[in-house]
Amino acid sequence: MRIVILTGAGISAESGLGTFRDKDGLWTKYDLNEVATPEGFAKNPQLVTDFYNARRANCASAQPNAAHHALARLEAALPGQVTLITQNVDDLHQRAGSGHVIQMHGALMSALCAGCRHRWPAPPVMALTDRCPACGQARTRPDVVWFGEIPYHMDAIAEAVETCTHFAAIGTSGQVYPAAGLVAEARGNGAQCIELNLEPSEISRVFQHRRYGPASEVVPAWVDSLLD
Ligand code: OAD
Repeated sequence: MRIVILTGAGISAESGLGTFRDKDGLWTKYDLNEVATPEGFAKNPQLVTDFYNARRANCASAQPNAAHHALARLEAALPGQVTLITQNVDDLHQRAGSGHVIQMHGALMSALCAGCRHRWPAPPVMALTDRCPACGQARTRPDVVWFGEIPYHMDAIAEAVETCTHFAAIGTSGQVYPAAGLVAEARGNGAQCIELNLEPSEISRVFQHRRYGPASEVVPAWVDSLLD
């Protein structure tokens, strides 16, 4: 078995981190164009910095849940056979013990210099006046991928998806590409694909298998079934 797992905001929902598109989701309270695009950052960098500072604070006070722990258990039980890709910018997979997490939309806990692209650990509260430790410019931004930017690690993701035998999407609405297109690629390459989500997503028909319910319940049960 070579298993690729793609997670989204739904896996962290029970840890108290809001999703984006559910009722009361982040995109019902904030304008995505203002806080999650390069144009929004150019227009009002303080607003964007404040938005991600608030999310970093939420993340710091959250704990991984049973779903994050189950995926860490799977990786430990099948060393070298599990690739964990997340769209989440939180660090709950890492704190649950997952060793190698591909964060395709970046990381709240990382800062990026828009000038020289150097990265460093983000302070709890980032400020626009923060200087890059490498080049000294004050062009700091959150190390997250905004709409209109290319997600990180796409080569490694493509390679994993091409060669996997099993693909699982967990807690993602399947509305944001390229992440939402990975299941079709995996299926086209012959993988068994499963959706684990609170409810059927818009792309649920692409999966041959489906399990619906809270991630803290369906993910540990799915991991148990794989390890049986
Ligand atoms: P969404 O908010 O679009 O979708 C969250 C999914 O999680 C929905 O399908 C919910 O039904 C499901 N869900 C909610 N609670 C759940 C629970 N307890 N257990 C299981 N599933 C649950 O979040 P994403 O699909 O992650 O990108 O969003 C994708 C990207 O859009 C994000 O990475 C972010 C966002 O805009 C950027 O900011 C670039």
